[in-house]
This record gives sequence, structure tokens and C-alpha cells, in this order.
Amino acid sequence: MSLSLNSESLVLGIETSCDETAAAIVRGGTEIVSNAVASQDELHAHFGGIVPEVASRRHAELITAIVQETLVQAGVGWGDLAALAVTRGPGLVGSLLVGVSAAKGYALTTGLPLLGVNHIAAHMTSSFLTGEGIDAPAAEEFPALGVVASGGHSDLVLIEEMGSYQLVGWTRDDAAGEALDKAARLLELGYPGGPAIERAAVGGDPTAVPLPRPDTKTGFEFSFAGLKTALVRTVEPAGLAECGYSLADLAASYQQAIVDCLVREAMQAAVHFGVRQILVGGGVAANTLLREDMAAAAGAKGLGAHFPPRWLCTDNAAMVAAAGYYVGLAEGASDLAMEVDSALQLPIYIV
Ligand code: KG4
Ligand code: ZN
Repeated sequence: MSLSLNSESLVLGIETSCDETAAAIVRGGTEIVSNAVASQDELHAHFGGIVPEVASRRHAELITAIVQETLVQAGVGWGDLAALAVTRGPGLVGSLLVGVSAAKGYALTTGLPLLGVNHIAAHMTSSFLTGEGIDAPAAEEFPALGVVASGGHSDLVLIEEMGSYQLVGWTRDDAAGEALDKAARLLELGYPGGPAIERAAVGGDPTAVPLPRPDTKTGFEFSFAGLKTALVRTVEPAGLAECGYSLADLAASYQQAIVDCLVREAMQAAVHFGVRQILVGGGVAANTLLREDMAAAAGAKGLGAHFPPRWLCTDNAAMVAAAGYYVGLAEGASDLAMEVDSALQLPIYIV
């Protein structure tokens, strides 16, 4: 049974699917009232990537304080809220468990309805969030194509209307962010790799290093593993210092190849499904080259392209609260016995 939510309803969202511990309060599915995020980047940088046990332990240490902080920031109490939303997948199972267990505890003690949210659907809602620091959210023009490019996903999502998502494209192997993180390790640039490669690429020639643009020719499928292997073959025989290319050229060429693949498949899907706009989300959507090239390619086809501000591209709980609002309207409260699902998928589009 759907929940009776309206434009004044406050939903508190909790996000712990990866290495960000976050809680936020959103009004009416769009307006950010408060947003608290504790990043674990520094903690994991030490290991060159995310260590799942370290991530879940840190979530457990931070979650109560982050939830408290978002309530204080918003100046509201539990009694002012209409529902509690939490990411139940996909993500790291230990990390998801911390958020979902906390949300269940809060739901039990406050009596608030619990709303289980798909993390990819949440990334799609970030284009529609409003609040301080957001100039213009995306217009509600559908159908739209969602592009979620993150550390765990490279998904293309057909959005028929707010809250209705169907998966039309995915990656056969590595995600775009994962490919950037692996390349950054090879180039000794540290973690997280996406921003490090973006910084290293400044002034580099994106055409200097010949790298492939793998095309599976199957539907709208990405494949980034071959691209990473090509970079390994370029760098490893002689070593980074002796491979014949500057770090800036390597980073710029690799970044361009990833962006070209994302733009190519997104445009093919956009034309195929006759969408009116493209909504890009996920950590990689913070990348300036991707923002520029996707906007130019969409513009050339007469389509709009929307990118949330960078702080809403990476994992956050405002998008979870917003997605929860639509789960509440469409499906109603989730069962308190709801389980985490580390491989949770959106429904696959069936022709
Ligand atoms: O969405 P997100 O915060 O977490 C996941 O759900 O995975 O995405 C994290 C990913 C990482 O792979 C990171 O390297 C990448 O997003 N990323 C970027 C940038 N900022 C973060 N990639 C390219 N350019 C950036 N500026
Ligand atoms: Zn994410």
C-alpha cells in the first residue's frame, strides 16, 4: 500500500553502500534540507583501494553521529519525519548491512516506515534535487536516459517517468570508475583514481597514446577491461619512467578513451529509445571531460544533458532520500525483514 507522501513530507535517507557514510533529509522528494557525508577516501588511500572490512567497520563507527548531524543541520526531530529510506543494494555487503541495520533500528524505535532503495535508482534522482548550490535541476522531461558511471557500475537506464527505471545497458567487465581506479594505481597516482587521473591529465595530449575504444557490438554494452590491458602493455615493459610517454599524456589519453566509450554507447541508446534528455550520475559524472563531451554529443542530436553538481555525483544520502520518496509513493513501506542485496539490479528492459 502506497504511503501518503506530499510536497512537505520529510524523508531521512541513509547511504552506506560503499565508502561514504551519509545521511540526509529531503522534502517532497526534491528539496535538500540537510546533507551530511563522511568520506573514507583518506582511510582507503593508504591501501590503494577500498578494503571492504575497513569500510564496514568505519561505517559502524560513524553512522549514529552522521544521522544525528543531519537531524541537527535540518533542525528537525524524529517526529517531524514521514519515512526513513536506506540503500539496500547494490554495494559491498558488509557496508550495506551497517546502513540497513541502523535504519531498521531507527524504524523500530520511532515507528517510521522503512523504504529500501536501489543505489542506481538513487543516482538517477540526483539530477532532480534542489537546494543551496544547485543552479537548475533537470526538467521532468521523459523518456530520459540515465547514465550511471561509478566505481561499481556503468549502467544505462531508461527512465519513463519519475521513479520508473529499466536497465538497458551495462558493462561486461570493469565499471568506468573501476577502470580509472586501476589505471591510477598503475600510473602510481593513488586512490580514488578518477580525480587523480583528471588532475594528471591537465596539459596532456589525449591523442598521444594509441588506446582502443572497445566495442562489444552487443546492445549497449561497455567493456573497459581491454582498455586497461592496453595501458598495462604500454607502461609495463619498460616501466612508467621509461615507457616513452609523459604521465600527462598517458592520463589524458586514457581518460579520453573512457569518456569516448561512455559517450558512444549513451548516444546509441539515446537515439534507439528516442529519449528527450540524458541524465548523468555516479562518481565519474564529476569528470569535466565527460561533462563537456556528453553535453556536446547530446546537443548535436538536439537533446538536453544534465549533470548534478559534483558533490551530488559521488555517493550521498540526499539521492537515497529522494529515491525513497518515490518508492514510498509507488510501493509503500518495505518489510522490516528486508534484506540487503549486494547484487541488486534494476529491472532489465524487455523488448
Ligand atoms: O558513485 P561513487 O562515489 O561510488 C560508487 O558507487 O562506486 O563513484 C566512485 C568512483 C570512483 O571510481 C572514482 O574514481 C570516480 O567515481 N570518480 C571520478 C571523479 N571523481 C570520482 N572519475 C573521474 N573523474 C572524477 N572527477
Ligand atoms: Zn554510487
